[in-house]
Amino acid sequence: MDNSKKTKRKILVTQALPYANAPLHLGHILEAVQTDIWNRFQNLNGNDSLFFCADDTHGTPVMLKANEMGIKPEQLIADVQKDHKSTYELYGINFTNFYSTHSDENKKYSEYIYECAKNNNLISKSNIEQYYDEKEEMFLSDRFIKGTCPKCGAEDQHGDNCGVCGASYDVLEVINPISIISNSIPIKKESEHIFFDLPKKNQMLKDFLKNVDLQKSVKNKLNEWLNDDLKKWDISRDAPYFGFEIPGEKNKYFYVWVDAPIGYLASISNWAEKNNLDMQDLWSENSEYEIYHFIGKDIAYFHGLFWPALLSAANFKLPNGINVHGFLTINGEKMSKSKGTGILAKEFANIINPETLRYYFAAKLNNKVEDIDLNFEDYVQRINSDLVGKYLNIASRSASFIKKNKNVLSTNINKNILNNLILKKDEIVSLYETREYSKLVRIIMDLADDINKYINEQTPWKKDINEAVDITSTAINAFYIITTYLHPIIPNITNEAFKFLNIKKISIDDVDKTEITKINNYKPLLNRLEKIIIPEEEDMDNVNLINIDQFSAVDLRVAKIVKADHVEGADKLLQLTLDVGDLGTRNVFAGIKSAYKPEELTNKHIVLVNNLEPRKMKFGISEGMVLASSNDDGIYLVSPDEGAEPGMKVR
Ligand code: MSP
Ligand code: ZN
Repeated sequence: MDNSKKTKRKILVTQALPYANAPLHLGHILEAVQTDIWNRFQNLNGNDSLFFCADDTHGTPVMLKANEMGIKPEQLIADVQKDHKSTYELYGINFTNFYSTHSDENKKYSEYIYECAKNNNLISKSNIEQYYDEKEEMFLSDRFIKGTCPKCGAEDQHGDNCGVCGASYDVLEVINPISIISNSIPIKKESEHIFFDLPKKNQMLKDFLKNVDLQKSVKNKLNEWLNDDLKKWDISRDAPYFGFEIPGEKNKYFYVWVDAPIGYLASISNWAEKNNLDMQDLWSENSEYEIYHFIGKDIAYFHGLFWPALLSAANFKLPNGINVHGFLTINGEKMSKSKGTGILAKEFANIINPETLRYYFAAKLNNKVEDIDLNFEDYVQRINSDLVGKYLNIASRSASFIKKNKNVLSTNINKNILNNLILKKDEIVSLYETREYSKLVRIIMDLADDINKYINEQTPWKKDINEAVDITSTAINAFYIITTYLHPIIPNITNEAFKFLNIKKISIDDVDKTEITKINNYKPLLNRLEKIIIPEEEDMDNVNLINIDQFSAVDLRVAKIVKADHVEGADKLLQLTLDVGDLGTRNVFAGIKSAYKPEELTNKHIVLVNNLEPRKMKFGISEGMVLASSNDDGIYLVSPDEGAEPGMKVR
């Protein structure tokens, strides 16, 4: 036997940084699960692997969303970060550090890389013409313009492509352009932008693509771009913008895609500092660490071209690998909120044990850039047949025999049976390494099948107790090996299984050197899944019933709108002054501007949530909430029938 120590690899793993303008959906979880399994596997296999992520906080959408909510972007991104972190936790995503791109470290690295690029003559300036929204006083990127397609004349099309004829075009060609932010007609305006000289990095990028571990199809696509139309990259945005100001410039900010990947460095450096480690040893020019990015196919361009160019401008080590995955579809359809397939990760975890989704994704994932479908029927069937019916079944049916022996296992076990499992170890390890999860899941389930067959053939229930314990002790030792193999995929279920087996130290290397001697009573580790029913959005609030006391805690009152005003700088809000009878007056900001003109609101009676915690907004303090119903088409205030007086209780 080879007892020589394997060399311990040092590995940095990252997953793409989710945008801080929305909660996570199941597509984000697909990526997190793929990455987390790989990182957990590396550590289980004796390597030193660290897993970093952060929220991607900068850019126009975050700024607009915060405006819309009447809060500061800093508040929005802090709230979202909390929400993202707790959602990932539900799915057992084990980050070494989950940080934010809105951080001192990120500012420092962004400025440093920019300075290096400047010193290497990679930075230049020129004027460009863009649409400008005079009402909002901001430049508009393509996504904030709509208008008539210059090719086919279809109205109401995107700023850079037509959904009717499929043409893509320059935003300045759009006929009758409209700003979707203010619904006004934008003007064309020039301003100076800062550019990164990508063409100068052409050769370096070609070499990089030769060496990097990256799917062939993606490499080809990137090489096409390199050979065709590599242009200077516009890395600046004009104020107003939520981001980092560019040093030495006035009112110019780094484009979000500059500091987003630099967020990888920031997250690592923030963790290094807290752990008294030196960034030089982690990610520098000559670091010993291998670097792997996990990303979706839509952002390969940024990670395969712009990012290595930035790194090389400042002499950082280039990534060893970029692992690109496809997109998640649900029941065969693109994820979309309106069709009920844009399921939020948090909601899904309420409906189903989130760890089973890890297993399902693993059973579907390979190392190709293919899209992956989550089909609810297939999911339930798969979990019940594989995890409950095959894997856990081994433990549950064996434990009852061993219990009769005071939970002590026999040493007279069938080594041949176990050897068949051990023989598959190298193949399973190598399939984890190459991210062929669906293949290795199939192999592991075949092994579980074999063990169930072994039990069926040996019929312990017909044997005397000694023989029955021999047979089921073999099965429990097999269960231990399978549990180790599955550990990166379903860490929580397998941790419970290890407790049942009295195993403290988990190692794939030593899986053949450990024998189970005593178990604990078996408790079911997973129940069979029922049909998945996603509640309609409208029903979402009914999922958790409340009792009458909880309802009574909400103080609803009739109130009269005595004054309604526009709010400077807010797109959706109106400021309401409410008369609540004996209770006095209240100042409330309500997101109803799209549906009501201030003048039609005066003297209207509405329903106020009177005891809502006051909320500090950018524009002032909001002292309650008015009730309204809404859907995609409009907003409808709730009003009491005639005769109701301000201050009356509503119940
Ligand atoms: N913020 C950027 C990434 C910056 S990395 C320096 C971004 N954010 S994102 O929230 O839109 O997407 C985050 C990751 O989720 C990306 O890798 C993206 O490909 C992935 N996915 C988004 N929708 C997805 C699916 N429907 N399916 C699978 N992955 C998906 O892009
Ligand atoms: Zn068209």
